[in-house]
Amino acid sequence: MKEELALVILNAVKELGCEVGSVLVNVSDRPDLCDYQCNDLFKIAKVNGVDINTLGNSVVSSIKKLDNYSSYFKDIEFVKPGFLNIKASDVLIDKYIKKMLNNDKFGIDIDNSETFVIDFGGANVAKPLHVGHMRTAIVGESIKRIIEYKGHKTISDVHIGDYGLQIGEVIYGILEEGKALDEVDIAYLDYIYPYMSNRVKEDEDLKEKCATITKDLQDGNLEYKKIWKRIMEVSVKDIKKNYDFLDVSFDYWYGESDAYKYLDETEEILNSKGLLKESMGAMIVDVKEESDKKEIPPFIFKKSNGAYLYESTDLATILQRKKDFNPDHILYVVDNRQELHFERVFRTSEKSLIFPKEKLEFLGYGTVNGEDGKPYKTRSGGNPKLEGLFNDVKEIFISKKETNKDKSSEDIDIIVNSILKFADLQNSREKDYIFDINKFSDVVGKTGPYVVYTYLRLNKIIKDSKIDVASFTDKIYNEYDRDLRLKLLALSNAVNSAFISRKPSFIADYVYDLCTLANTFYEHNHINNLKDLVNYNDWLNVIRLTSLV
Ligand code: ARG
Repeated sequence: MKEELALVILNAVKELGCEVGSVLVNVSDRPDLCDYQCNDLFKIAKVNGVDINTLGNSVVSSIKKLDNYSSYFKDIEFVKPGFLNIKASDVLIDKYIKKMLNNDKFGIDIDNSETFVIDFGGANVAKPLHVGHMRTAIVGESIKRIIEYKGHKTISDVHIGDYGLQIGEVIYGILEEGKALDEVDIAYLDYIYPYMSNRVKEDEDLKEKCATITKDLQDGNLEYKKIWKRIMEVSVKDIKKNYDFLDVSFDYWYGESDAYKYLDETEEILNSKGLLKESMGAMIVDVKEESDKKEIPPFIFKKSNGAYLYESTDLATILQRKKDFNPDHILYVVDNRQELHFERVFRTSEKSLIFPKEKLEFLGYGTVNGEDGKPYKTRSGGNPKLEGLFNDVKEIFISKKETNKDKSSEDIDIIVNSILKFADLQNSREKDYIFDINKFSDVVGKTGPYVVYTYLRLNKIIKDSKIDVASFTDKIYNEYDRDLRLKLLALSNAVNSAFISRKPSFIADYVYDLCTLANTFYEHNHINNLKDLVNYNDWLNVIRLTSLV
């Protein structure tokens, strides 16, 4: 629709004898003034050396003289200093509303398919899934779905932390307490990991011992490997349970340990490019650049004791992904605080020609804070386990209203999901936000329950009716009707913005606005009492499309 309007403007400009390549029409920033706007007259006036006011007024008057003016425009106006404000005709709006209804993807542009590897989730084995891991799960899953919707192929990999220092600590604890393998269950891990991690913080010696265990495990120690397998089994099952609850899934459950088979080849590549050098016993790659505004430390491939690091496995994983999937892009949905880590990994990848930096995207996310502005802690205090947050949300939602107590546990799970996800997705990915459960679990306001409530309300109207999709007329009945239809047409904008910026908040914002307009529509248009059957059917079609979107 925007393109169709742009073409009319383009032709009018050309008729006036101006040189012009193309013209862009956008959804208006000021819906109170107009539906769409065109900001290109500035440029056209400048290039052609004509007065902008004369140009603007002439374009408008020649468009208004067109025979088919009213099939495109309700109004077009030139506004100083150089804008065209556009109101689309009802016929045009309806033409595209029908296209949306008859297209299984609402007429959104589908791209030429590329392959995206998406690295998100990133839970750490043996540690409980904490609140920080919720964002990467929710935002990552959403980015994955948006990319797929645009017609691309996605390959998702959870990249679990299964070979880090925490493993050495937990193995040490298990051995010290003489636990048999089948006694190691999730309750035991929940106890032993914090216990060991606190001890290690105060005991350098113990820390060294645990680090050695991790190193020996990585080198293939069989006893440790057996214990590690058990920890993996128990822990991954619990991690999966949490992801299942959130309806988040992965194609691959690879972990840091899976990168080990690619380390030798990675080292060969680094050496063949002459990039590896020794520094105090460690093997490093210098990744500083002249244009750096801050100090970028070197990429450390191997420590002086021969151990590999988080960054070594991340580089080797890029090699593995290139070999296995030959992707066009690799995306990382990871905490903002890891930006420098990835910058160094990406620079090394670029320098070694393993994979170009421009195709590696760090999609950082902000921290989930409590009402005190500090990282979220559960109400029961202590470790902010994700399950604790789920329970907090459940409890507060149920306590809100007497009737909430009667809801089935499946319904409660759906509502808890809507609360968590909508809270998370509406906040711009890279920003911190305060997780105010009370606010986010309300049915009024920009919340998940409000969206669910609106959706159910629309569906109920459709269910109680006899809708005839085929006889949908061209008429728009009033401003509430028109506003809702225009918002429906803006869906592709929201999806495209979310896709390009990799920010689901564009869609969350859109959905909230759509719900608000749908509720206003319903409050002013008493569809159930309507005697005019044509009008009734038309509105049902609008409601149906809204519910589908
Ligand atoms: N396990 C890591 C953490 O909890 C996140 C992993 C992110 N992905 C990656 N390829 N490094 O911090």
